[in-house]
Amino acid sequence: MKKYNRAGAQPQNMDVEALKKEAGISACSYVSSGMKVGLGTGSTVKYTILELGRRVREEGLDIVGVPTSIATEVLAKQQGITLCELDDLDGLDVVIDGTDEFDPNFHLIKGGGAALLREKVVAQSSSKMVVVADDRKRVDCLGAFPLPIEVTPFSHATTLNAIERVLDCSAAVRQGEEGPLVTDNGNYIVDAKTGPTITEPSVTEAQLLHIAGVVQVGLFTEMCDVVILAGLDGVSVLEKS
Ligand code: 5RP
Repeated sequence: MKKYNRAGAQPQNMDVEALKKEAGISACSYVSSGMKVGLGTGSTVKYTILELGRRVREEGLDIVGVPTSIATEVLAKQQGITLCELDDLDGLDVVIDGTDEFDPNFHLIKGGGAALLREKVVAQSSSKMVVVADDRKRVDCLGAFPLPIEVTPFSHATTLNAIERVLDCSAAVRQGEEGPLVTDNGNYIVDAKTGPTITEPSVTEAQLLHIAGVVQVGLFTEMCDVVILAGLDGVSVLEKS
C-alpha cells in the first residue's frame, strides 16, 4: 500500500466535516473530461459531487455520471451533471464512493446509507473504484460497523433468522420513520452485529448470498483500488499494491 501525504495540511484545526470535504474534493483529481463516472452515496462523496458540479459549470468539465441512489441522482441533477443509465453505457471509467469501513486489503463494508445494491452494481461496472473516507473508517478487521444486508420484504423475518444463524450474531431490520426502512429498490436492510470478526469477507459474502431472501451484501471485496483518507495527519492517497 503506497501512502502520499498532502503537503502543507493543518488538519488539527479542521473538524471532521472539513476533512470529509477535503477527501471528497481530492478524489475529483481522478476525473477528467470524456469520462463516465459512477457517483456514490453519502456525506463524504457529497463533496465530490459538489466539486464535480462546480467543474462542470465553471470549467466545462464534460462527464457523464451514473448515480448510485435516488438521493445522489437528485444532488447531481441539481449540480448540473449529465446523468445516464448504466445500461446505456459500456462500463464506467471510475466510481467514487464512500465507505463505512475498510481493512488493510481494501475490503469494504458499505450500506450505511442503504444504497449498497446500486453501489455494488455500479462498482462492478467500473474500471477503478476510488473510496473517500475519514480515519474512523480504517479498521484492522471488518465488522465493528454492523454489516448491512439488503433483503426482500417477503419473509424478511425468516431471512433475518437465517442470517443470524449463518453469522452467529444478532441482527435487526433497519427502521425508518414509519416502520422498516425501504431502499431505493423496494427492499429492507438487515444490520448484522458481527463485531470485528469478518476475517474472510468473500467467504462471509458467499455464505450470505446463499440465503434466498438476501438480495445483496454490503461486503465489497476486491473492488476498491484507491482510498482517499482524511485524518488528523491530513489527506492521504492509499493505493492498493
Ligand atoms: C451508502 C454507503 C456510504 O458510502 C457509506 O455509508 C459512507 O457514508 P458517509 O460518507 O456518509 O460516512 O455505503 O450506502
